[in-house]
Amino acid sequence: MSSGQVPNTLRVECIADDIRLVRDEDDLAERIVHADRHKIPATIIGGGSNLVLRARLPGMAIVLKLRGAEFERLGDDDWRVAAAAGENWQTVVDGALERGIGGLENLTLIPGSVGAAPVQNIGAYGRELSEVLEWVTVFDRQELRYSTLTGAQCAFGYRDSVFKRDSLNRYVITRLALRLGRTAMVTDYPDVAREMAVHGGAVDCNTVADAVARVRRRKLPDPARIGNVGSFFKNPVVSEAQLDGLRGLVDIDDYPAPAQAVGRKIPAARLIDAAGWKGVRKNRVQVWPRQPLVLVNLGGATGAEVLDLATSIRDDVYRRYGVALELEPAVLGAD
Ligand code: EPU
Repeated sequence: MSSGQVPNTLRVECIADDIRLVRDEDDLAERIVHADRHKIPATIIGGGSNLVLRARLPGMAIVLKLRGAEFERLGDDDWRVAAAAGENWQTVVDGALERGIGGLENLTLIPGSVGAAPVQNIGAYGRELSEVLEWVTVFDRQELRYSTLTGAQCAFGYRDSVFKRDSLNRYVITRLALRLGRTAMVTDYPDVAREMAVHGGAVDCNTVADAVARVRRRKLPDPARIGNVGSFFKNPVVSEAQLDGLRGLVDIDDYPAPAQAVGRKIPAARLIDAAGWKGVRKNRVQVWPRQPLVLVNLGGATGAEVLDLATSIRDDVYRRYGVALELEPAVLGAD
């Protein structure tokens, strides 16, 4: 056993009783089978970019270090990239952009690992991972073997998938394949469209990626410099009647609800902003002044402090607007 710090982009201290780095699929299978057989709780950690960790993680933390990404040309504008779960997401995005392959330009600069991407079905500026995902390789802890799931079997939703709903942690993602080059560019997200108009020129995957990168750098904190997990809450879906009620209280945009949901999706950032939380500090945590959906660790904050601020925001938004915000990252560990 060797206890150790669990990597996480929020940069909070969290010590796992036993931490293991795994570099290949056989090693991963062995560790999981061993942990499950001995009833040791095992938590799989990728890039730690969508986790809020409390002070201690009981049992074993298995940190995925599986590496590699291969691009394969299947036709003129048809590519497959197969990448290992421990690879950095941006490495895959950059690999596509260098080759001039479209499909991932809107998903540039999203922190985290490849394996984490399907869990919350990462999405930004009008593109979701699910639109380009071909298959996912998982270690199935129930069947004790590797298998492949298609996009449909992943049951993707808005920031949601079978992996997020899988409370038993049945599936451990080890690899995935994306099908690129075939999808039309999406440039109508207001922030990106504005940026493209200002800069003019050709619309190709690299100019779109540059526009997205400029918008992100302006609004979002850089996790390499300041601890954060991106959006802390999901954008809620409300009924038409609830939206009408809200309009009397706050000036708010609304968007179509994601598949399977009924009502309208509204920006949580607008509610948090209108409630006056922008830039607010509590202990060593701050609501990011340029995008109030993001909470940042000003240095030395604990997971509990971050959750405490999140709870204050959630309670206040509920009290004012009757909208229950849902946490976007997963919360793990104990204090
Ligand atoms: N807004 C404010 N005040 C602000 C900022 C935003 O009121 O200071 C309101 C405005 O009405 C604005 C709206 O929020 O039009 C939307 O803001 P933004 O375009 O920044 O997007 P978002 O809905 O807040 C979502 C994702 C982000 C993703 C962006 C762009 C979720 C939970 N968040 O944020 O994803 O980058 O759209 O596509 O869906 C993440 O998941 O970690 C993440 C950063």
